[in-house]
Amino acid sequence: MRNHRFRPSVLIAFSVIVFFSYSSTIAGAQTFRRDTEDQTNRRDTEAQTFRRGVVVAREANAADAGRDALRAGGNAIDAAIATALAMAVTHPEAGNIGGGGFIVAYIAKSKQVITYDFRETAPLASTERMYLDANDRPLPHHRAGPRAAGVPGTLRGLELAHREYGSLPWRKLVEPAIRSAREGFAITDHVAKTLNRELAAKTPVDRTQMNKLADFPASVSAFSKRDRSPWKAGDSLVQPELAATLERIADRGADDFYAGETARLIVRYMEEGGGLITRQDLASYRAKRREPIHTTFKGFDIYGIGPSASGGITIALMLNILERYDLKADGPRSIRTLHRVTEAMRRGFLTRALYLGDPDFESIDVNKLISKEYANEMAKSIDDGRATPSANLAPFRVILAEGEHTTHLSTIDAAGNAVALTYTLEDSFGSRAVVPGAGFLLNNEMGDFNLIPGRTDTAGRIGTKPNVIAPGKRMLSSQSPTIVLKDGRVHVVTGSPGGRTIPNTTLWVLLNLLEFDLDPAAAVAAPRTHHAWFPDIIQVERALFHDDVVKPLERLGHRVKAVDIQGDAHTIVVDERTGVRRGVPDPRHETAKAAGD
Ligand code: DON
Repeated sequence: MRNHRFRPSVLIAFSVIVFFSYSSTIAGAQTFRRDTEDQTNRRDTEAQTFRRGVVVAREANAADAGRDALRAGGNAIDAAIATALAMAVTHPEAGNIGGGGFIVAYIAKSKQVITYDFRETAPLASTERMYLDANDRPLPHHRAGPRAAGVPGTLRGLELAHREYGSLPWRKLVEPAIRSAREGFAITDHVAKTLNRELAAKTPVDRTQMNKLADFPASVSAFSKRDRSPWKAGDSLVQPELAATLERIADRGADDFYAGETARLIVRYMEEGGGLITRQDLASYRAKRREPIHTTFKGFDIYGIGPSASGGITIALMLNILERYDLKADGPRSIRTLHRVTEAMRRGFLTRALYLGDPDFESIDVNKLISKEYANEMAKSIDDGRATPSANLAPFRVILAEGEHTTHLSTIDAAGNAVALTYTLEDSFGSRAVVPGAGFLLNNEMGDFNLIPGRTDTAGRIGTKPNVIAPGKRMLSSQSPTIVLKDGRVHVVTGSPGGRTIPNTTLWVLLNLLEFDLDPAAAVAAPRTHHAWFPDIIQVERALFHDDVVKPLERLGHRVKAVDIQGDAHTIVVDERTGVRRGVPDPRHETAKAAGD
């Protein structure tokens, strides 16, 4: 690790502590009275029970494609690949071949956890300040259009996983996606509404604010109804250009995307549209096998994803901090639990900002950051009677600021192999730009770099060095596919979308299952919170946003705000005793499904 002067125990010495007229007992075990109400207010799903294999994913046709791969004799890796490819067609806002992501997988035969990093990379022509004007203001093209795109990684990642551990022929895994693209599939109300919103033209069109599908002609033609009337649930979305692209990929593998006809179409669009991705960028892209992040939590083995994702290290650190407490005695909604979890999140995200980036560019002392000693050091500054102001933990000046979309799927097969796969275009519909002639959306993942070097502010903008732009570098991700083993066997497969909320959503699912012993459906449904160091504010799902939660947290010095929902954690829980698999689609989205046998 690079030398650093940051020592939490020293920093806390100059924390400004304001004493109020109550003591630490205020933060005590006041179990939140609306517990049962919260659960029943939700469209709660019963976990579905399976004996052999299961796929849980955001979109039902794609979950069925994965289940069919299992039925055809495929394993959990095949099922995850078939589901991910199908979602590139049936869940266009996040499913993708033009984005990137991560896999954590358990291989039963070798009793090994492996991970794949297929995160996008910055094009070779990128520069540190490429999205800034002379006054450090972000330029409009940093969030939409071809210039916002990193070099996609999804197909190289799926191909690598398939080559190493898949068992069905590649073409068989692509076929359900081709079928849905060519023949069409019935869209849900959610897809109809999001497409209508994205396709509604702005008046007058503001050229500096091109940020909808409507702003890009190839996107309009890929996602509009033939008669241009608004979409409604049940309409069939047919994507002929995407079908042709997937046909080539079925025939020639990922090479078509990175060096064949699809590469040609991408590069042509970049040249015409002012994007940066070249033939060389595509040809030199590599998906990588990496070491998993491992920690223990109260008898469970937690396996997560390492850099270039931040999820594994952040979650390991938060669990290492939290395992010193008997959270169960207080309950998941007690003020003291919410306070302690927030303080762990604050320190997890501080660590993320200070040290994490692309491991091929930054030297990261992973073993130190996930050690129990580092967690002990971080925990020393936690005060049960008072929120730690985030600015007090920063080892540099924080500037006072003036002023979702990804998807996760989980699979397991009869032999006990399992896959946690999260992948993304970054925003919903990514850069909004479909590659003309190829029918798929490009990501806008470049926005995950720290865009303004040196500027870390109270609004949550991070300017630390490990994640500034460099040619060929992977932008830091919050994705957190996670597998928990108990006594050497898969117990939980989980993960979520949600940008920086991802590690915290995943943390709550893990705590609800492993610490609070909630049943699987309740563990996924239970309200979640989020704190990311900056902004120094706890985000709380509305189901938990009540005076008897908010007021005591405010008295501890926290600022609290409500959000409707946080995350989308499609989870599998295996009963340790019986081996029964429970598939839990997150009830926050009605289109999710558990499919299996
Ligand atoms: O990789 C990341 O951390 C982000 N690009 C993920 C974006 C995301 O989850 C948005 N979706 N809700």
